[in-house]
Amino acid sequence: MGKKRVGILTGGGDCPGLNAVIRGVTKTAIGKYGMEVIGFYDGFEGLIEGRFTILRQESVSGILTQGGTILGTSNKANPFAHIIGEGENRHVVDKSDQCMELYQDLGLDALICVGGDGTMSIGGQLSEKGASIVGVPKTIDKDLMETDITFGFDSARYTATEAIDKLHTTAQSHHRVLFVEVMGRNAGWLALESGIAGGGDVILLPEIPYEIEEVVSEVRRRSRFGKRFSIVVVSEGCRPKGGEQVYQKIVEDSPDPIRLGGISHIIANQIEQETGIECRVAVLGHLQRGGTPTPFDRLLATQFSVKAMEMVVEGVFNHMVAIQGNKLVPVPIEKVMNKQRTVPLDSHYIKAARAVGASFGAKID
Ligand code: F6P
Repeated sequence: MGKKRVGILTGGGDCPGLNAVIRGVTKTAIGKYGMEVIGFYDGFEGLIEGRFTILRQESVSGILTQGGTILGTSNKANPFAHIIGEGENRHVVDKSDQCMELYQDLGLDALICVGGDGTMSIGGQLSEKGASIVGVPKTIDKDLMETDITFGFDSARYTATEAIDKLHTTAQSHHRVLFVEVMGRNAGWLALESGIAGGGDVILLPEIPYEIEEVVSEVRRRSRFGKRFSIVVVSEGCRPKGGEQVYQKIVEDSPDPIRLGGISHIIANQIEQETGIECRVAVLGHLQRGGTPTPFDRLLATQFSVKAMEMVVEGVFNHMVAIQGNKLVPVPIEKVMNKQRTVPLDSHYIKAARAVGASFGAKID
């Protein structure tokens, strides 16, 4: 009998720490378990199109500290809804059987899917077709269910906090209101935690619809107390009470087509008009997804990868690695599929932010 084989792919938006997982899986599979590793290029696209490579120890040498993913990724590819053609010739085909054939032909004993909720959902569907899937949770949004944290989040939080720190000094010098828009989709974790760490005066979250009058009154209140500047940390997914989120674009061929972004410009204009104080906006965008992973993310990604390989060897399939209260545990992928973990209003972070005087732009009890 030949060596056992494990496949790995990275799906969805990239984030710092993906390479640390690829490295951890490859080194553990080869070094500890004597297995072979197949890396699929560009997430599920590689599985659909049969594009892959054999990963060896030397393939992953020196990648621990690199952002991005050496395998590439795609947040559009979906074996169950593969898009062919454009315009009038555009149609959707199910390529999942073809993917399963490749899985069998390659003699894979398991496939490790590293990604967010979209990747876990596809992984869950593939496991229903007979693939042995192990999920590894990544996302800068920290919006995956069943795990206290995902790798990538700490690095993004660091980038956002550093940006807030830098914007603080210029806001102070020019007596302006500086708006910092951060990513996070429908979850406010990134805005909330970087907002607290950076000392944001107002923090606007998707979970707490804001009232513009409340933001105005906080900026004015600070002015009255001699604080001639304010920092407003805006989550891209926030919206006014009774209003809508702001979309930057619709990516038609993506399973999750809405790309949020731009609401901070609208709020900044309103605040400038109401208060007469100059406002400026910094939308951090994909800066938050780039760069070298923090030590925390390298550690988390490495631990996740080792646990994922342990699950492969022990036959714990159709589960995702999670961290719960400092323990690495497997959780059924179905508990994670098509769900989002948002900030609960009784979160200790909300409590802490309020205690140090941050406003959420709304009256909350
Ligand atoms: O899910 C990660 C994320 O960076 C979100 O925070 C953001 O809304 C989205 O992806 C951006 O997607 P794209 O890379 O397609 O612009």
